[in-house]
Amino acid sequence: MNHQPQLNPETKSMNNNSDEPNDPLLMDHEADGIKELDNNLPRWWVWLFYLSIIFAFIYMGYYHVFHIGKLQAAEYETEWKQGEAIKVAALTKFEATLGSLTPSKDSTVLNQGAQVYTTYCSPCHRPDGGGLVGPNLTDDYWIHGSNYVDNLKTIINGVPEKGMLTWKGILKPSDIQAVASYIYTLRGTKPPNPKLPENLQQAPTGPSPFE
Ligand code: HEC
Repeated sequence: MNHQPQLNPETKSMNNNSDEPNDPLLMDHEADGIKELDNNLPRWWVWLFYLSIIFAFIYMGYYHVFHIGKLQAAEYETEWKQGEAIKVAALTKFEATLGSLTPSKDSTVLNQGAQVYTTYCSPCHRPDGGGLVGPNLTDDYWIHGSNYVDNLKTIINGVPEKGMLTWKGILKPSDIQAVASYIYTLRGTKPPNPKLPENLQQAPTGPSPFE
């Protein structure tokens, strides 16, 4: 039985050229009846190809031969230095105005402070501020001064030799202010099993005005 598929006469006429065995475009291989035509590449494709070669030479000259353009590492270095300068300027300004700062009572700031506290401070000072590795932040005994500005200074500079980190390189000035405002709200909250005061020699500072 012959199961040779019959080509639709219309298709056949459309493919007429390629069906010719001596078509000059026809290549000399065939797989499962599929033949390949050696057509010219489209003009737009060939131009794209040439342009990419020209581009490669320009690129190489610009970046690697004449060093006109900065490479990624150099660009990173420049931007990093700019960023560092902005950070230092912000911190210098912050430290210069420290003395006049007061704890914020704005709920957005306090929420931001609570978030910073939970992420960075609670492992050492306990989530409720009762103290663990770091001292209790809810009582009236303070090693480095009780007022808000003292707290800010301790947070900014840390007490590296005692295990309190220097946060100025890690937190933004606004975060430091927010977290210091937040811990101010923890004063007098009397959490269960607090860490005992370290600094009994110093007289208690009395209830804070924000309690
Ligand atoms: C790795 C543990 C650790 C982390 C994290 C930590 N602290 Fe401390 N903190 C301490 C220690 C320890 C002290 C006590 C330093 C001393 O004895 O002089 C301290 C002291 C303080 C003090 C001064 C307390 C006082 O009695 O004068 C404040 C305020 C404070 N920390 C706030 C923070 C804040 C805010 C954060 C988060 C941004 C934080 N700490 C993160 C360990 C830590």
